[in-house]
Amino acid sequence: MKAAVLREVGKPLQIEDVQISKPGPREVLVRTLAAGVCHSDLHFMEGAYPLPLPSVLGHESAGIVEQVGSDVQTVKVGDHVITCLSAYCGHCEYCLTSHMSLCEAKETRRPKGAEPRLAAADGGPMLQYLNLSSFAEQMLVHEHAVVAIRPDMPLDRAALIGCGVMTGVGAVMHTSNVRPGETVAVIGCGGVGLSAINGAAIAGAGRIIAIDMSPSKDNMAKAFGATDFICAADGDPVKAVLDMTKGGVHHSFEAIGLGKTAEQAFNMLRRGGTANIIGMIPIGQTVNLMGAAFLGEKRIQGSMMGSNRFPIDMPRLVDFYMSGKLKLDDLVSRRLKLEQVNDAFAEMKTGQIARSVIVFDA
Ligand SMILES: NC(=O)c1ccc[n+]([C@@H]2O[C@H](COP(=O)([O-])OP(=O)(O)OC[C@H]3O[C@@H](n4cnc5c(N)ncnc54)[C@H](O)[C@@H]3O)[C@@H](O)[C@H]2O)c1
Ligand SMILES: [Zn+2]
Ligand SMILES: [Zn+2]
Repeated sequence: MKAAVLREVGKPLQIEDVQISKPGPREVLVRTLAAGVCHSDLHFMEGAYPLPLPSVLGHESAGIVEQVGSDVQTVKVGDHVITCLSAYCGHCEYCLTSHMSLCEAKETRRPKGAEPRLAAADGGPMLQYLNLSSFAEQMLVHEHAVVAIRPDMPLDRAALIGCGVMTGVGAVMHTSNVRPGETVAVIGCGGVGLSAINGAAIAGAGRIIAIDMSPSKDNMAKAFGATDFICAADGDPVKAVLDMTKGGVHHSFEAIGLGKTAEQAFNMLRRGGTANIIGMIPIGQTVNLMGAAFLGEKRIQGSMMGSNRFPIDMPRLVDFYMSGKLKLDDLVSRRLKLEQVNDAFAEMKTGQIARSVIVFDA
């Protein structure tokens, strides 16, 4: 099958022929129909986070089940599915206390010594990325890395739920538990930030302040439910938010991945407010906060994949789209072929687009 492979940090992905194994007892073979292009892949491509290479990238996808292993219970051949990198075991402390997105789920990978799920055309190593590797015509995954969805959901938009949408909406609804009428700020209006804005609107937030370097994100953020826009290139966004809200927001969301913007997220809180760090801050970069601010009971916390319970959450997000609440049509800036995947990363770096989606031939 065709797949987009990272062989060397700092280099573009290359389209290669990659071998894929057959499903083990609890595994599922999925025909990939669409894969969104998320900034997290770019962090690995640029070396901000380490990754064993060569590896097939991509982790935000949807497709149709082609084969299932003998013990698979949750999906069947022909099901339309969304994938999720938060594969879960179902019986550890995290899973049993409703923190499935923190499960380490070691048993959802193939054990050491077993035939790997992927291999290079010449039989050499090819690593499966985040247990998914979605930039490929097929995916071989554990059944706890997919969820079946209603068949009338368009799969190119369903794919985006697999990471960016779940992450943004979940950060608002699960990690920070935004209540109706509360004030929200979102720093960074890419696929994740726009989804956080959309989630805040669905949750009934009062004022939703969007912040981005790129002025083109003003109208885009408002289409997702933002009430105000601040262009970070025009001055200090913290001062602008404090002035605008007369003292700060209840919840802030950092959706870029920089120490500086994580500090901004904390510094724009009102007393008792909560800052949520979604962005992948490069390894080694620190976040500096004024210690005295903690006397105001301000909080700062990470948010991993929207603190999801994805088998429950993703079908609900599909229903939100089908009923017009989740603006996934507006989230797709561009549809491309797998061969154009590097163009999607080049466009992402401009900060102008919402999300690119790779669409595969059915
Ligand atoms: N925690 C998680 O589970 C999780 C999941 C998915 C993605 N992420 C991370 O979330 C972040 C966002 O992902 P994305 O795909 O939406 O990215 P993206 O590239 O699509 O969007 C980033 C946006 O931030 C803006 N921006 C850049 N620098 C800025 C600055 N200094 N001030 C204001 N705006 C700025 C850009 O203009 C762009 O609109 C990435 O770091 C990604 O790795 C984390
Ligand atoms: Zn992602
Ligand atoms: Zn678990």
